[in-house]
Amino acid sequence: MSTADRYRRFADAEARGGSPCYEEWALGVAADGELLALLDDLPVAKRQPNLLFAAARYSGIPAGPFPDFRRALLADWPAVRKVMLARRTQTNEPGRCAVLLPLLAALPQPLALLEVGASAGLCLYPDRYSYRYGDHPRLDPPAGPARAVLDCEITGPVPIPAALPRVVWRAGIDLNPLDVADADDVRWLEALIWPEHDHRRARLTPAIEIAKAEPAHIVTGDLNEKLTTLAAAAPREATLVVFHSAVLAYLDAESRAEFVDTVRGLNARWIANEGPGALPVTAPPSPEPERALFLLTLDSEPVAYSAGHGQTLHWL
Ligand SMILES: C[S@@+](CC[C@H](N)C(=O)[O-])C[C@H]1O[C@@H](n2cnc3c(N)ncnc32)[C@H](O)[C@@H]1O
Repeated sequence: MSTADRYRRFADAEARGGSPCYEEWALGVAADGELLALLDDLPVAKRQPNLLFAAARYSGIPAGPFPDFRRALLADWPAVRKVMLARRTQTNEPGRCAVLLPLLAALPQPLALLEVGASAGLCLYPDRYSYRYGDHPRLDPPAGPARAVLDCEITGPVPIPAALPRVVWRAGIDLNPLDVADADDVRWLEALIWPEHDHRRARLTPAIEIAKAEPAHIVTGDLNEKLTTLAAAAPREATLVVFHSAVLAYLDAESRAEFVDTVRGLNARWIANEGPGALPVTAPPSPEPERALFLLTLDSEPVAYSAGHGQTLHWL
């Protein structure tokens, strides 16, 4: 796929309805020979719209009309390019815990959580966030260092938990873990949030406080290389849950197949929240085929579709 097609597809399938600014920027880039030539000078994996736009905002270019963005980008290209080469798209969205929670709460407690592709580890605190599922009463954890409220619209028979799960162990693996105690990493996490998503920015700060108060053990490395050893370190008296969200798209087919074999060989429950097609699973059709929804599976069984940032959950 050409870079122009990639930006047009991003505008149509991802940004439309989610970020008018990014939709305009992506369509603008797709039609701009000068910008496309700069992008095509980067390695293929570094030409992504999300990476460019986050790197631009991280470098101080504000959200705004495309002509202003274009002007600033051309003026600051060496700095933006450097950020694009140094950083990766590692959006860490605690809102995805709202999707995982109904499954986690229904498993035998307590839980040992192991997230592959954990980024900064903010999805490792499902027991520390507050949840509002549609009109249901808010579910709150005991008082903690901060309150992050996750709103989730629901359709279908979502098994709303009566109580939050009990987590006794939190661990993760990432090629490049982000550090919630590092100011630059936090600024990068902020830049990865789309401009109009104030509600996501608002909950990032309390989520980071929660993670800082109870640091998870996050190992640097490839998930296929580290999973078995890390899983063996989980406490035996807890239900080990291996989970991941928005990660398998980064793996090639061979690495995905290897991961599936490894995780199936562990004595663990397995929750995936990924683009349909990422796993060898046959699922009922998506309720919104025009939107890029994730498929939620438990031990390879499809249970729900969810929106990318955990804002909607459609139970099958
Ligand atoms: C889009 S982020 C999602 C983070 C988190 N799971 C969430 O839902 O908020 C994907 C993460 O997967 C990590 N990742 C990609 N390929 C990986 C691999 N082979 N091994 C370990 N981590 C990987 C990236 O570094 C990145 O932090």
